[in-house]
Amino acid sequence: MSAEQKKIAIIGATGNVGRKIVEILLQRNSIAPERIRLFSSARSAGQTLKILNQHFSVENVADYDFKDCYLALFATDSDISKTFAPKAMAAGATVVDSSSAYRLDPNVPLIVPPVNSELVTKSKNLYATANCLACPISVVLKPLHAAANAIRVLASTYQSTSGAGKAAMDELQQHTKKALNGEAFQPVNFKRGIPFNVIPQVDEIRADGFTYEEFKIMEEVRKIISPNLKIAATSVRVPVMVGHSISLAIEFERELSLEEVKKILSQSSGVKVSANDYMTPVEVEGKDDVYVGRFRKDPTTKNGILLWLCSDNLRRGAALDAVEISERITKVWGQ
Ligand SMILES: NC(=O)c1ccc[n+]([C@@H]2O[C@H](COP(=O)([O-])OP(=O)(O)OC[C@H]3O[C@@H](n4cnc5c(N)ncnc54)[C@H](OP(=O)(O)O)[C@@H]3O)[C@@H](O)[C@H]2O)c1
Repeated sequence: MSAEQKKIAIIGATGNVGRKIVEILLQRNSIAPERIRLFSSARSAGQTLKILNQHFSVENVADYDFKDCYLALFATDSDISKTFAPKAMAAGATVVDSSSAYRLDPNVPLIVPPVNSELVTKSKNLYATANCLACPISVVLKPLHAAANAIRVLASTYQSTSGAGKAAMDELQQHTKKALNGEAFQPVNFKRGIPFNVIPQVDEIRADGFTYEEFKIMEEVRKIISPNLKIAATSVRVPVMVGHSISLAIEFERELSLEEVKKILSQSSGVKVSANDYMTPVEVEGKDDVYVGRFRKDPTTKNGILLWLCSDNLRRGAALDAVEISERITKVWGQ
């Protein structure tokens, strides 16, 4: 098979991020539909998925030798990525992984396309996309850090249920109906009931008191922006379908006026200054940029600012990143 005919394999294609990857590949005409193959577990193998009027059959990844693909995009949990990504690389494919399996590996570039896509080179065949909070924080922080050296960041996140996968979104819908009907329900994908509630625990709690989600955000942002950055995060699950929000406090080495902050961000890649003071999750669904609003000086600290960020977590920090990285790989490798 010639290089031009080689395919892209999407593993985890029936999930939230996988389906969105296919949708964005088609929307952007990144590759012809017949060069896309979809994979899942045995549970969904045999299904047909209709995405943007294209029909795809879903295959069992366990039966795949990866020999006809030059790119394998994983939208699966870490253990599945760790099982099949080495097989894909051994067959000659370059891997882009959306899970946390490889993000903090010092040998694996952690790519946030508007920030550091120059790290995609011919010398690496494994790339990780960043967590869906670490990504928007980095997109906003990078240009401000370049201007005034960020020294300390506090992030409180308001995370939609889509961030926990398709089953979690279904639970929000089904349990909200039950709650409205006065019926009992038992949380499955959340630590408490999600309808009409907020839950200050995303993932399990570590020995240091932070959750694994908070740890990922802190360590990934430090890997992307600077290991010298001080950062603390509190992650909260909210009863929203799609769209993550972040309250961000940043302290800099030198003062930035709010006008300077707005000017820098309005000229930065992947960011939009919210026209109407701020955006909400419902308003950002389907959009590619990270929206920034509620600009304030932090009265509690020297050289501090306060911001409100909102982005579509299934696109920026997930599927869009994977697609942009694949486009870059395709260009660098000339496929
Ligand atoms: N959702 C987000 O906002 C977001 C953002 C950034 C990164 N991520 C990461 O992206 C990954 C996927 O997240 P998601 O939200 O799309 O999850 P999801 O909706 O739960 O989808 C999981 C996918 O993995 C497949 N899968 C499960 N077990 C498998 C197995 N044994 N072999 C092969 N495939 C298997 C599922 O296929 P079946 O249909 O066969 O079960 C499904 O296609 C996770 O690592 C997540 O942390 C998610």
